[in-house]
Amino acid sequence: MHVPLIAGNWKMNTTVSEAIELVSGMRRGLDQIAHVDKVICPPFISLAAVRELIKGSSIKLGAQNIYFEEKGAYTGEISPPMLADLCEFVIIGHSERRQYFDETGEIVNKKIQAALRVGLKPILCIGERLEENEAGRTEEVVTEQLGSSLAGIDYLNGLIIAYEPIWAIGTGKAATGEQANETIGLIRRNIAKLYGKRIAQDVRILYGGSVTAANATEFINQPEIDGALVGGASLKANQFLSIVKQAAEIRQLLSG
Ligand code: 13P
Repeated sequence: MHVPLIAGNWKMNTTVSEAIELVSGMRRGLDQIAHVDKVICPPFISLAAVRELIKGSSIKLGAQNIYFEEKGAYTGEISPPMLADLCEFVIIGHSERRQYFDETGEIVNKKIQAALRVGLKPILCIGERLEENEAGRTEEVVTEQLGSSLAGIDYLNGLIIAYEPIWAIGTGKAATGEQANETIGLIRRNIAKLYGKRIAQDVRILYGGSVTAANATEFINQPEIDGALVGGASLKANQFLSIVKQAAEIRQLLSG
């Protein structure tokens, strides 16, 4: 059985002082919750300050993006070694980056390779658009995204997958637990085809898209779902704490 993972993607929110305030408001509470991996992903500019604040706690840190080159004349970009020095996880291929910054499967693939090379754990995001969902193309779309993102990658080395249906992100219209479970099951079967059954069982696959304190249990309770990637609700200390607590309670119930 997996240790559930709850990650907060803060997106483009919080100044450095707001980030410090937000972490200060949840640090103690989060640290007290065992048997759940708790990851927060603030904007780049706050990583160093947040890292200091969570030092010695069980809270882990992630970035929201990465560039695939190691160094050089790429004004404004952040390299894998820069991040490896600061955090453990990095979100790659979020649908907002695919949509607003033209990230293709090929770019996502290069970013994953670059992250793995320096020991960062990618949180690879995949998910279908509303039209694709309505046209019954979910399986085809996530299978294609998975294949292109992981092309040429032999070892997953701690990679995490987040299934985030685009129609559920920031809309308040979450998938149902059953829908998310079904698609995550098919993602896992795809991983089994690519990497074998053992790795498919080991890889953690999260659900993301309008997860809140009110619906978190519905998702985390599903057999295929290993946690959540939380956007809006991760910006509220009490909401995020409640989601992590729900994951801990489910884990305790399941392990008896
Ligand atoms: P919301 O939880 O705000 O819908 O965002 C989900 C998401 O995109 C997390 O990466």
